[in-house]
Amino acid sequence: MNNRGVKLDHDLTKSGKDVKEITETLKNFKEKDFDFSSGRVFASMCTEPLDIAKEAYIEFIESNLGNPGLYPGTKEMENQVHKTVSSLINADRMKSVSVGGGTEGNIIALWRARESTDNRKVLLPKSAHFSFEKACSLLDMEPEYVSLMEDCTVDTVELEEKIDDDTAAVVGIAGTTEHGAIDPIEEIASLSGEIPFHVDAAFGGFVIPFLKMMEYDVPSLDLTTKGIDSISLDPHKMGMSPVPLGLFYSSGEKEISVDSPYLTGKDQKSIRGTRASASIPAFWATMNLLGIDGYKEIISDCMEKTDYLIELMEEKDFDTITEPRMNIASFRSEQPEVLVERCAEKDWYISRTVHPPGLRFVVMPHVTERSIEKIVGFLGELR
Ligand SMILES: Cc1ncc(COP(=O)(O)O)c(C=O)c1O
Repeated sequence: MNNRGVKLDHDLTKSGKDVKEITETLKNFKEKDFDFSSGRVFASMCTEPLDIAKEAYIEFIESNLGNPGLYPGTKEMENQVHKTVSSLINADRMKSVSVGGGTEGNIIALWRARESTDNRKVLLPKSAHFSFEKACSLLDMEPEYVSLMEDCTVDTVELEEKIDDDTAAVVGIAGTTEHGAIDPIEEIASLSGEIPFHVDAAFGGFVIPFLKMMEYDVPSLDLTTKGIDSISLDPHKMGMSPVPLGLFYSSGEKEISVDSPYLTGKDQKSIRGTRASASIPAFWATMNLLGIDGYKEIISDCMEKTDYLIELMEEKDFDTITEPRMNIASFRSEQPEVLVERCAEKDWYISRTVHPPGLRFVVMPHVTERSIEKIVGFLGELR
């Protein structure tokens, strides 16, 4: 009932509704949502999980590793997942925790930096994801932005000038949200010295190691590099896991760890208490099914489709902002918001870049050659 006594659709009914009606309504709602399988979504860093992941997800839907003693099977898989991913980036020396995604990983990284240095200043490339703004606001820290070079990586000369005794953390991005650029991680690690250096590899974490194996010209993501304090990488992006799943690895002693006396585990180390954990078995199943070769195949396919997109866009006189290092491509545009909106009106989802203004395409595994041809054709008509 609203305040005028009118009964609303979403009021809880007295004795519930029948299953058929509910299923029908669910179907109607689902139809309003976008399906990755339509190939029309270029504006998401997530993708359709594999069938085996969907099955595992349903099987483990009750898992909550906020209370791990009740889910020893899920916990065992979590340990295995952490070790497997660690082997991709050589993070054996580090501690790990499952998080909800890149945002939670970045918040924990800055919290650790603030606690260990007692400083507040955070040096961020202009390309940093907006989650760092949230982190700074929550933690009462001060973001200070560093300019980008033409290839959209951070200007390390300016970065070095800005590092001082008040710096709490230096951040580098391995796979920037807008352009997929990769900051020079080893160089930043050596510049930052004793100051905590956090690598945000939310997107690149599951791309760079495989590109490297396939001998693409990309910097390596190797956590044996001296000076890296922490890294976050998201299985729910290019790892092909269902949401939500991020992984955070860190060295040193500082961790958000509180006793959890009412629960079965002795402590909790993530920001979340109760945490939906079905994506862990789902990701475990995905990794075991795909293996290294499976990931390589998916990633090289995305890279080929990115090249194809660029070829077609250039034929329509759209210039790339920078040569893509991974499966994100961006193109200069004076009014990207107008084009993005026109596309959305026709059920095509692309997004835009801010530094500099442009159109942004994330070429995820669900994107097809056919959908690339169609969206480029449509953008060509709008020129
Ligand atoms: C580089 C980077 N870091 C962090 C995030 C935040 O990740 P999430 O939305 O999973 O919290 C994103 C999301 O796009 C990202 O691209």
